[in-house]
Amino acid sequence: MRPILDDRLRAPEKRNPTMVPLKRRRVVSSCDSSTSDVSNTNNNRIKFQQQVLFLLERKMGSSRRAFLTRLGRSKGFRIEERFSESVTHVISENNSGDEVWAWLNSAQEEGGHHGQPPAPPAVRLLDISWYTESMHEGRPVEIQDRHTLQEPQQNAEELPLFSVPSYACQRSTTLHSHNLLLSDALSVLAQSAELAEDEGRGVAFRRAAAVLNFLPKAISAAEHLRGLPSLGEHSLRVVQEILEDGSSREVESTKQSDQYRAMKALTGIFGVGVKTAHRWFKLGIHTLAQLEDSGQALNHTQQAGVQHYSDLNQPVTKAEADAIGHLVETAVVAVSPGAQVTLIGGFRRGKVTGHDVDFLLTHPEEGKEDGLIFKVVAWLEAQEGRSLDDGKETQKAWRAVRVDLVVSPKSQYAFALLGWTGSKLFERDLRRWAGHERSMSLSSHALFDIKQGKHLRADSEEEIFAHLGLDYIPPSGRNA
Ligand code: UTP
Ligand code: MG
Repeated sequence: MRPILDDRLRAPEKRNPTMVPLKRRRVVSSCDSSTSDVSNTNNNRIKFQQQVLFLLERKMGSSRRAFLTRLGRSKGFRIEERFSESVTHVISENNSGDEVWAWLNSAQEEGGHHGQPPAPPAVRLLDISWYTESMHEGRPVEIQDRHTLQEPQQNAEELPLFSVPSYACQRSTTLHSHNLLLSDALSVLAQSAELAEDEGRGVAFRRAAAVLNFLPKAISAAEHLRGLPSLGEHSLRVVQEILEDGSSREVESTKQSDQYRAMKALTGIFGVGVKTAHRWFKLGIHTLAQLEDSGQALNHTQQAGVQHYSDLNQPVTKAEADAIGHLVETAVVAVSPGAQVTLIGGFRRGKVTGHDVDFLLTHPEEGKEDGLIFKVVAWLEAQEGRSLDDGKETQKAWRAVRVDLVVSPKSQYAFALLGWTGSKLFERDLRRWAGHERSMSLSSHALFDIKQGKHLRADSEEEIFAHLGLDYIPPSGRNA
């Protein structure tokens, strides 16, 4: 019988020998069987008990895998549908040893198996050629060098085996990224999704970018990222293209696209959100100039946004943030002696520029913070009136900067501080962690323990992290 060498059983390329070193092996306990039509039942008598085979669907495809499985079983081979520690031979087609190994790791992650199950004595990573020849012979043929997959390119020490916790709030992500080129590219796709009001997709790219920024070294091959949390196929594809070609076509075309450029320009106007910008875009308004010519009604905030467009789109420097900090402190002390001002947002995380400057105000005596913002703003406006008058005769000696003031009662101060320091993704993951992992609800006001049915007090950020069962991460490590 020779149904074997049809084109579905074509000869593979030659490969170098490999056997996965035990110390690098992790065992995956499931495969994606949802796409597989391999039958679970094996009515054929198993002739070769010693060899427990697993056929990798990746690149082989589910129908070919099913066909090969049936064929092997009909010849008495023991073929498992799922990878488990009993598997002795992993058969794949058009995959490198690295790829197979990475797949095993990623499938393990997806299956939620984070531990290190007992390793079997040895597992062989074999090319399909060994399988087809064994089918020919009707028995497992002796394994030759040419059957075994290429030894992974790097030694265990060199191969970047990154361990990345899933939640951004479990990781310290500083401003010093080793993969900024890649994460910036993914941030473009994130922003594009956000501007299209596709929040889920936006968050997915933000998460992928954040993982890249967390990694302790620069990535040289997309394969090294397989199995890491938050790096989906789409992000991996973009990363691979940039590593191989220097840029990603999708990212470049996104940056050039009319809609992306227009939506960025319009939402860059203070007071204009995505919905408004999209409505204008559909009316053919793509630029600030077109908006000004259009006669569209603008609210008060938007009018200020248009008036100070260029000022507000110029990044705020740390020196400017400090100068504004002094001014805000002066105002706060003037209107409410004893009140306190804390720099929050990106500058608290150590950023050297920002799109605004954020401050948190509070008063040591609970209740005395009431109306504080109103008084501070009134004081600043009075100052502004004076300085504008002073500058009338000379040239403009000031520029508009966006300042966000947040006020909180002392009892909520730690929650407000944590909630307004960011980054946005870090905050999102703190809340997600609280809800999913601790049955708690976290906001910028409070932490509620759902199981105990009560609020948990905290006077510092450290206490909140402790309540959440997280290691404390200082602001500089919250740049996810
Ligand atoms: P920002 O938008 O100012 O972000 O919000 P940022 O991190 O300071 O970045 P740049 O430097 O200005 O560009 C500061 C933090 O305040 C919270 C978020 O946690 C954010 O990280 N925030 C902001 C909210 O909770 N709600 C908002 O509506 C805005
Ligand atoms: Mg800010």
